[in-house]
Amino acid sequence: MANKKICVLTSGGDAPGMNACVRAVVKSGEKRGLTVYGAQRGYQGLIENDFIELKRSSVSNIIQQGGSIVISSRSEDFFKEEGRKTAADNLNSLGIEGLIVIGGNGSMTGAYKMMLENGTRIVGIPGTIDRDIWGTEETIGFNTAVNTALEAIDRVRDTAAAMERVFIIEVMGRHCGEIALISGIGGGADAVLIPETRTDIDELIHSIQEGIKLGKKTNLIVVAEGDDFGGAYKVSEALKEKAGIKSWVVILGHVQRGGTPTAIDRYFASVFGVAAVDAMVEGISGVMVGWQKDEVKYVPLKDTFSNKKQFDPHDQELLELLT
Ligand code: F6P
Repeated sequence: MANKKICVLTSGGDAPGMNACVRAVVKSGEKRGLTVYGAQRGYQGLIENDFIELKRSSVSNIIQQGGSIVISSRSEDFFKEEGRKTAADNLNSLGIEGLIVIGGNGSMTGAYKMMLENGTRIVGIPGTIDRDIWGTEETIGFNTAVNTALEAIDRVRDTAAAMERVFIIEVMGRHCGEIALISGIGGGADAVLIPETRTDIDELIHSIQEGIKLGKKTNLIVVAEGDDFGGAYKVSEALKEKAGIKSWVVILGHVQRGGTPTAIDRYFASVFGVAAVDAMVEGISGVMVGWQKDEVKYVPLKDTFSNKKQFDPHDQELLELLT
């Protein structure tokens, strides 16, 4: 595929390390003789014909930056077949023969549909702080986000201990408790509430009360935003109403999406970016670059969103032993 044009975009919620990935695509693409374009604002840029040529100079000094230099978005127009057709037509009229999509579950679904309907050659790269995509053990941004959450939990612990308070800390994860579990284990949380398991509020109250009887003055509860009980404020209200336990709520929110990517995120961003370009050069399409058992695997795009990633039950066991 030498002397050919390809395009890269970032889609959905941005994740620290997306820039490092764009850089890897551009640099390795150039070395393999490709011309690389960036579509701005994800799929929306494809639809609106908003492309920029990305050269080595465009990606210098971005490896350490959070966010996305090509901007990300959740494109509503791309949900429609018509939007995907316009996107494919625009790529074709520019002579762009391959598309690299950095994003999460929803972005992989859109990529698959576009490929199926229009024959576009697409390779996906898992980029989401949630680490919730089937077929890969790593996603760009998770490591940074979980460390950001952990740092916040440590800080809250200081004030919780100093004031002898119960804190409910809400981390991101609409459908997935990965950030909550790992930051909760690392932060020594007293309980972690995640969407994958049913939250039993009476049991939580019981364990807080048991702790208090044993002289425990501080409680840190980490809750994923998508927990079935309804998030940090709901938990806090229930503790008050059902047991008279006063608690303080901290919502970490989009703080978790920003900041300098960790070495691990930059590493995977670089590995995935190069592997996606390799796939393009070798004519592989309709796959997402995944990481399984210490190596790159090309996973069929369809599998990434039609299967649900399971969380590791060992983490849950670990937590039960440590709380
Ligand atoms: O998909 C990543 C994520 O950060 C989720 O954890 C969160 O629920 C969602 O995006 C928030 O999306 P938005 O920024 O569009 O509100």
